[in-house]
Amino acid sequence: MKINTRSAAFSVIFEIESKKNINADTLMEKYHQKLKKTKDRALFVELVHGVLRYKNLLDYYINFVAKKGVKDKKILNILRVATYELLFLDKIPDYATVSEACGLAEKVNKNQKGFVNAILRNIIRRKDEIEKALERVKEVNIKDFLSIKLSYPKFLIDYLEKSYGFDKTVKILEFLNTKPLQSIKINTKKISQAEFLKKLEACGYEYEVPELNREIVYIVKGNIKESELYRDGYFYYQDLASSFIVKWNRYDFEKASSILDLCAAPGGKTFNCAEVTRGFVVSCDVNKSKIERLRENLLRLGFDNVIVAENDALTLNEDFVGKFDIVIADLPCSGFGTIRKKPDIKWNKTKEDIENLHELQLKMLDNAAQYLKEGGIIFYSTCTLGHRENEDTVLRFLEKHKDFNLISQNTIFPDEYKCDGFFIAKLKKEGKA
Ligand SMILES: C[S@@+](CC[C@H](N)C(=O)[O-])C[C@H]1O[C@@H](n2cnc3c(N)ncnc32)[C@H](O)[C@@H]1O
Repeated sequence: MKINTRSAAFSVIFEIESKKNINADTLMEKYHQKLKKTKDRALFVELVHGVLRYKNLLDYYINFVAKKGVKDKKILNILRVATYELLFLDKIPDYATVSEACGLAEKVNKNQKGFVNAILRNIIRRKDEIEKALERVKEVNIKDFLSIKLSYPKFLIDYLEKSYGFDKTVKILEFLNTKPLQSIKINTKKISQAEFLKKLEACGYEYEVPELNREIVYIVKGNIKESELYRDGYFYYQDLASSFIVKWNRYDFEKASSILDLCAAPGGKTFNCAEVTRGFVVSCDVNKSKIERLRENLLRLGFDNVIVAENDALTLNEDFVGKFDIVIADLPCSGFGTIRKKPDIKWNKTKEDIENLHELQLKMLDNAAQYLKEGGIIFYSTCTLGHRENEDTVLRFLEKHKDFNLISQNTIFPDEYKCDGFFIAKLKKEGKA
């Protein structure tokens, strides 16, 4: 099938839904490159993220008018993309949406063109009636309503409610449905904040600088990756939340002579360390291709105090035992804090994944504990929300490792900090108990 914006969007969503553990970003990148115009690429991202963000809501509209449901998954995804356009995109006229969707349906399954046309016309005609029906769901069961209106799996609503209470959960879920701006961190080893902002203005970029870290910049418009500023190594990609580990503990990182970043790729925290430490950083990951990209970025950014190594955090590395002042354990997690950027996470994580990740984190932390010198610090962090992978992991670690003290633990709530959701615990190895 010839690729256009909508066919690309529907193909990506179809593939994400049909295969577990598929990397949505890599898949999107593949289709992104096939679209030549900037305008088409922007619409493609909007459609894929929009459908993944509001899948339950779109399905509610579709199933309201298609009483027997839609069995053909390809047709369902064509309908989802079109329904997203009808509900959320003002600039595309309804007739254009319907005509594009019918054209696509014809290519996928000739017999379904009329069905797609009828469903979409019904949604346009019965929009108010559908909205009212959804309001009635709210009166009967508020969590069913939220699961449809904000489009999250019910288990996730229950899980977050158990951790943070109902009202806070709603605020978090609402914020995680907003569209993020590109977030970058200035490489202060190469350029000052003031100089960088001058260059940014000279290149015509609109930007915002968050209060809580003036070295982070939000790019409001434009693809800064294609700029000279990127090639010259003046910045790297990083979310505000992820920058807090080094920002809030700068003194520890400055004076450390040896830092281990246990799960380092794509490298944000390694770069933060490299900017401030007088010592050196050993930056590890298990994934070969991610390590290659990390190396390329280190060259681009001009850091010469980082050693990169392929290492499995689950296996004890004898060479590391007792060698480090700081271990950053920014571990694999369910990633619920990053749903704004990766809305597919809503649909590809389960309750079992949370439990498995909690156990995996404990195993990795057992090794991290051995890599520290006495008096050293583990910074345990995740980009997820919910107690199981955060406070509970810390608690169980401390029960087992009596020689460690919890110095602090903080949840970065996305709705408060206006960034990714994140968790940071600072654990100090006091010596043999
Ligand atoms: C949350 S990301 C790390 C983000 C990174 N610290 C940063 O700031 O850019 C988790 C990383 O863990 C890596 N990983 C997964 N399993 C691992 C293992 N067994 N050993 C080492 N790294 C692993 C993944 O490849 C992924 O890059």
